[in-house]
Amino acid sequence: MSGRLQDKIALVTGAGQGIGEAIATKFAAEGARVIVADVSGRQDDVAATIGGIPYHLDVGDDAAIDALEEHLRAEYGGIDVLANNVGVNGAAALCHEYPMEDFDRVLRINVRQSFRVMQLGLRLMLERGGGSIVNTASIGGLLATPTAVAYITSKGAIVMMTKTAALEYAQKNIRVNAIGPGITRTPWLDKLDAALIDTLAAQVPQGRLGEPAEMANVAAFLASDEASHVSGQLWVIDGARSAG
Ligand SMILES: NC(=O)c1ccc[n+]([C@@H]2O[C@H](COP(=O)([O-])OP(=O)(O)OC[C@H]3O[C@@H](n4cnc5c(N)ncnc54)[C@H](O)[C@@H]3O)[C@@H](O)[C@H]2O)c1
Repeated sequence: MSGRLQDKIALVTGAGQGIGEAIATKFAAEGARVIVADVSGRQDDVAATIGGIPYHLDVGDDAAIDALEEHLRAEYGGIDVLANNVGVNGAAALCHEYPMEDFDRVLRINVRQSFRVMQLGLRLMLERGGGSIVNTASIGGLLATPTAVAYITSKGAIVMMTKTAALEYAQKNIRVNAIGPGITRTPWLDKLDAALIDTLAAQVPQGRLGEPAEMANVAAFLASDEASHVSGQLWVIDGARSAG
């Protein structure tokens, strides 16, 4: 049976675990050839499991992004789908005490380097005649959280980066959207204690955290032609957390 992403070339960054792994898995199940990119080494296992193609990538490295762009152009004639998913967290501190080294690190990876990866996608899709980009923002791109100014600022920036690109390339058959996960059960949460996770889950009207596969389902829809008139949107997936 033909999937919603049948024979599409899809690049997923941060695909070694968590939401990125779930997106890569879903894209492969929908028939895509998935380039599973991560810095951790786990991309090899994920690619082997889903029948994808592993690629070692540090999105913090401009030269590595350029090399990946050239590789994708030469090897596959570009890409049809990009899930631009890498994001990092920073220190927990109030604004007036927030450590600038953390602010710079989080903004650099989450904004500047996400933008560099989005540029790669846009250039390859312009050459190919179209495509779909799904950036990973966050519920934090919509709702602020105390003591997380770097992360929240970065995810707000991703939302506006997404909307800007959607406007610029709407006539070029390129759609650009963002997913906005609420708190999602990934290894990202391993650093939090169990009581805090319970508190966070209780704040969700559905009474539970999101699962990576629930983020991936929305990403696959946005990546597919079923979302052909959807662009420039933040799709929040949060069990109604941001509804009231
Ligand atoms: N988990 C949540 O609750 C949650 C909520 C909202 C948004 N998000 C966003 O979803 C995305 C994924 O989150 P997650 O929870 O799956 O995270 P995670 O930390 O579990 O996984 C992130 C993956 O990205 C990879 N990575 C990190 N730095 C990289 C780099 N420089 N180059 C290449 N790969 C790199 C890691 O190796 C890892 O495999 C992030 O953008 C995050 O901000 C997560």
